[in-house]
Amino acid sequence: MVYILVLAVFLILATFLFLKNSLNRGLYNSTKKLKLPPVVKAWPLVGALYMLGKDPVNLLKNNYQKYGSVFTIKVLGQSVTLLIGPEVSRHFYTAPESELSLEELYKFAIPMFGRNVAFGAPTEIRLQQTQFLLKGLRPQMLRFYVGQIVTEVEDYFSQWQDSGTIDLVHELEHLITLTTARCLLGREVRENLTEEVSALIRDLAGGVLPISVLFPYLPIRAHNRRDRARDKLLLIFSKIISLRKTSPQPEEDLLQTLLASRYNNGESITNEQVSGMLSAILFVGKHTLSNTAAWTGAYLLQHKTYFSKVLEEQKALLGRHGLKMEFDILREMDVLSRCIKEAARIGYPPIITPRYCRQNFTVTTKEGKEYTIPKGHIVLTSPAVANRADHVFKDPDRYDPDRYLSAEEKKMASQPFSYITFGGGRHTCPGEAFTFIMLKTIWSYLIRNFELELVSTFHEGEWNGKEKILVHYKRRQLSI
Ligand code: HEM
Repeated sequence: MVYILVLAVFLILATFLFLKNSLNRGLYNSTKKLKLPPVVKAWPLVGALYMLGKDPVNLLKNNYQKYGSVFTIKVLGQSVTLLIGPEVSRHFYTAPESELSLEELYKFAIPMFGRNVAFGAPTEIRLQQTQFLLKGLRPQMLRFYVGQIVTEVEDYFSQWQDSGTIDLVHELEHLITLTTARCLLGREVRENLTEEVSALIRDLAGGVLPISVLFPYLPIRAHNRRDRARDKLLLIFSKIISLRKTSPQPEEDLLQTLLASRYNNGESITNEQVSGMLSAILFVGKHTLSNTAAWTGAYLLQHKTYFSKVLEEQKALLGRHGLKMEFDILREMDVLSRCIKEAARIGYPPIITPRYCRQNFTVTTKEGKEYTIPKGHIVLTSPAVANRADHVFKDPDRYDPDRYLSAEEKKMASQPFSYITFGGGRHTCPGEAFTFIMLKTIWSYLIRNFELELVSTFHEGEWNGKEKILVHYKRRQLSI
């Protein structure tokens, strides 16, 4: 759902950029001799806007089948060029910001998380903030977080009855918000993570409307709520940050790492920036991470063969290590790891990831066709479509975690920019390893302590983020 929202936002932005670019007649003159990508046939002016709003994945998939790995969609006159598949995505993922940038496309994030924070920040600040984040997600920190995740998971599931029916999406979203807060944002944020904070994060998300891109400060109710939420979060987090700064006992968490971080010019990160980053992390956890956790479960419960394999793996681990759960034991969970990877490939990967083209570049398709993408285009890859490319993944729509065992497919899938759920190159997601340790801990705990059965219909690949995934559970100890 959040990706559909982001997609809608980009489309409106595209219009805005077009109006700006159309003033620049030089662009047309400089591009008319170039070999440009094929343009998707669509109604003039509104272009593909309607279909993109209604069913973006199918629109992109159908055009990929029709036009191949490079094509341009006109949205209210703005050219939006899709690059699908590893052969044509290298430049997208490796080009410097001076050639393909994010800055122009994320202005709407400023009122959500604050000026100079994450995607709303100018490039040089954003890149340094990602480095700060990476420090808090390095392996020795992850090793330490596992204990905290285990405590949160045990606490959370101890509140379940002996048996019952739950909505997996709702439960995992709640658990993951609490756990992300504990590991990354620190003890104090976790203790203050009331329903109020969750509601405020929801209000931030509710403030991203398509109109927000053109007029991020338009005085409408959703924007007012978003601004109030940001101010309140700033107040809550600032108190916590000030206390932490004066605490004699340093903690081992991402918050401590952020507070100790310095920009290249020697300045420290401000309370407002730290607060914005904490909100952004909660936002990602609440949407992306929780949905991947729910999909992992839904696929596992739907595909009994794989569920049995995971169960056998857990029994073997119980035999070797008893009930202990540590970073190195999580690393032994090969089958579960592949099941998560496969659910993340086809379940709920981002629909698009965008860049703004500042400098012409050329791509060559696997069929040997060469196209130039001109300056001024919005360029997109689509993990949702590229992750199902049939020259990369055999029988790509099939849920098959064992595909990563076949030498041929393993080679293809591990080639750069083939499996792009977590992006690649310069903007590779720094949260991928954290996502895996979180999901492995949660799912191994559930499998060891409950009998689980999917009781709602699960439409593979069609879940719209609003449907419930209903699961019946019954407490039991997995015996070896
Ligand atoms: C299932 C979970 C997740 C998925 C599918 C996911 C996906 C992605 C993707 C596709 C990108 C690249 C975007 C691009 O190329 O424009 C990205 C970037 C990023 N992700 Fe994640 N992510 C996940 C979890 C997380 C978590 C848990 C965190 C933080 C703790 C995180 C923080 C970030 C940041 C900061 C970036 C920007 C990196 C940069 O621009 O250099 N993500 N993520």
